Amino acid sequence: MTREEFRLLRDLVYEYCGIFFREEVKYLLERRLNTRLREHSLGSFNEYYRYLRYSPNRSRELEEIIELLTTNETYFFREEYQLKAFGEEILPEIIKEHTGSKRLRIWSAGCSTGEEAYTIAILLCESSELNDWNVEIFANDISRKVIQRARKGVYGKSSFRSIGDDFKAKYFRPQGGHYIINDELRSLVSFGQLNLLDDEMLQLIGRVDVIFCRNVLIYFDKPARLRVLKTFYDKLDGHGYLLLGHSESLMNVSTDFELVHLKNDLVYRKPIVTGKGRLGE
Ligand SMILES: C[S@@+](CC[C@H](N)C(=O)[O-])C[C@H]1O[C@@H](n2cnc3c(N)ncnc32)[C@H](O)[C@@H]1O
Repeated sequence: MTREEFRLLRDLVYEYCGIFFREEVKYLLERRLNTRLREHSLGSFNEYYRYLRYSPNRSRELEEIIELLTTNETYFFREEYQLKAFGEEILPEIIKEHTGSKRLRIWSAGCSTGEEAYTIAILLCESSELNDWNVEIFANDISRKVIQRARKGVYGKSSFRSIGDDFKAKYFRPQGGHYIINDELRSLVSFGQLNLLDDEMLQLIGRVDVIFCRNVLIYFDKPARLRVLKTFYDKLDGHGYLLLGHSESLMNVSTDFELVHLKNDLVYRKPIVTGKGRLGE
């Protein structure tokens, strides 16, 4: 792969999904896309670039490379202290604020194979105060394959590395060497394929009270992060919460969310607007 081919393909991938490959990881892009060159019997990355730009099958091919370029690592009860903050501090506050409407909307953005969304569903099921509430969890990912797997709700050993045996026994049942999620949890989550940079598709998501977007923005550069953060700002209701991964911070990216020091973790919240400028404006 020449430097020019790298630049063309890197920019095309970035434009499509926000994932940014630095010069130092050129070899990664080259290695992963090589399989697609072979698949289409193409002689150079330049030809492959033209295929991705102009072929009538370009959408399908972009989906194929997304499968090769994204990192889908996830598991139940990942970043437990943050989930503790959600269950013990954020949830009770929202329940108090929404006692009138009894409505709760949560978005798991970049949900991979669904462990994050089902973890949230378990925490909501464990709260007796939500029994007669209208609760919905929207869970999306750019990868069609992970969404298909999430809908099936069948998981192997590595997904359970952080979950307690009690929850595993209560919400899953064994199936052919794996475990399948129970119907109550499944009914709380609506999965869909969605690109966080696709404004048209984002219209499908309404206002939400909490957004989990953990370990997704680390793969984006600053302009792409800002774009996604603007979306989150617009989608969050009133004083809604934004929960990022533990290695992700808005420092030097945006000051439009306030950092809230909870007992269990530091989280971000949409501030009550007092005439201050909006993200990117
Ligand atoms: C490392 S996983 C994180 C899964 C889960 N949030 C967690 O923390 O365990 C990152 C996910 O982000 C998804 N992703 C990457 N770019 C995306 C985009 N532009 N739109 C939606 N999802 C994206 C990937 O497909 C991948 O499944």
